[in-house]
Amino acid sequence: MSLFNQNLFLGIDIGTTSIKIVELRRINSRVELSNYGILEKYGHLERINDAIQTSTFKLLEESTALLLRQLLRTARVDTAVSYMALPGFSGFVSLIDFPIMNEKELAKAIRYQAVQYIPMSLEEMTLDWQIIETSADRIKVLLMAVPTDLIKRYVKTAELSKLTLKGLELETVAVARLLGIKEKNPAAVVDIGGRTTSISIIDNGSLRQTHNIDTAGGDLTQVIASGLGINPIRAEEIKKTTSLNSEYRGEIDMLKLLSPLLDVIKRETEKAINNYYLQSKRTIEKIILTGGGANLNGLDKYYSQSLSLPVVKGDPFSWGLISYHPNLAPVIREIGTNLTAACAVAFKYV
Ligand SMILES: Nc1ncnc2c1ncn2[C@@H]1O[C@H](COP(=O)(O)OP(=O)(O)OP(=O)(O)O)[C@@H](O)[C@H]1O
Ligand SMILES: [Mg+2]
Repeated sequence: MSLFNQNLFLGIDIGTTSIKIVELRRINSRVELSNYGILEKYGHLERINDAIQTSTFKLLEESTALLLRQLLRTARVDTAVSYMALPGFSGFVSLIDFPIMNEKELAKAIRYQAVQYIPMSLEEMTLDWQIIETSADRIKVLLMAVPTDLIKRYVKTAELSKLTLKGLELETVAVARLLGIKEKNPAAVVDIGGRTTSISIIDNGSLRQTHNIDTAGGDLTQVIASGLGINPIRAEEIKKTTSLNSEYRGEIDMLKLLSPLLDVIKRETEKAINNYYLQSKRTIEKIILTGGGANLNGLDKYYSQSLSLPVVKGDPFSWGLISYHPNLAPVIREIGTNLTAACAVAFKYV
């Protein structure tokens, strides 16, 4: 690596349907997107399978690293200094309230309390925590736990990809912190991925609660495929190019097709909002859609009407957190939300 690349930072988000990378750099007081790449696993699966066919047994890390390296090469990434997002569904996040105590006592108390909050053997988990609020008599701590085995697999993937891994963080925590720079009021962040949707509440700049459901973009594609009697690849195309408000071939109403699934996500969002109100007496003022699924044409309008709340897309570019070359404007408009998690894990360090 040359000295010129010292201010470049790579953010990596390995999702179940695609791998996203961003290269960020600091220019004076700004953070700029200097490079990005998305590899949709579907389209490349055949070729990748060819490449690893010779071996009878390959670990998941090896095939992921193969894809990642291919993406890094294609995007001509200039730095190995990288930060990775851990999938939201892989971790547990809890907000715990403690009386005022010193750091050392707090660390002990957290470890002691963790057993109650984490539904897995603590021996298999790596714990982390952040103080997110301190008042006159209370300390609010965000407790995070991730299976140690998963962390090892990410470390291995980075190693196989010849990357210098500097940080690993739950994507929900990172995204909350990034968007929380701009959005200080209570808001619900709905990250619609390929296989999972995570619904988080952010408040005063940090994550407060999060949960996952397995209704996501892939299900929408499936419903279109079976509804129209077409293959999933064609259905995926239609999903990305048709608006919820318009009709396909004048016959099929996308909204009618997709609303049962969209309403599952909506109801879970309402539940999260109510739950947060019960716990904190604070009212959610906005819905922030992110992840690839946020690009569904007309979704923001559909949710804002049925939830009676403003709905915005959560991408760091249109929010003015990360600048980009003007030539990229059309691309960013299309895939800005896909890159949010990759940006979020690296942003703090840029
Ligand atoms: N323009 C678009 N319109 C509608 N859906 C889209 C659009 N672009 C991408 N998607 C959908 O977004 C989903 C992928 O989103 P994303 O890349 O955030 O998922 P992921 O991170 O790989 O998955 P997960 O978070 O579940 O592991 C896919 O279902 C894809 O069809
Ligand atoms: Mg994702």
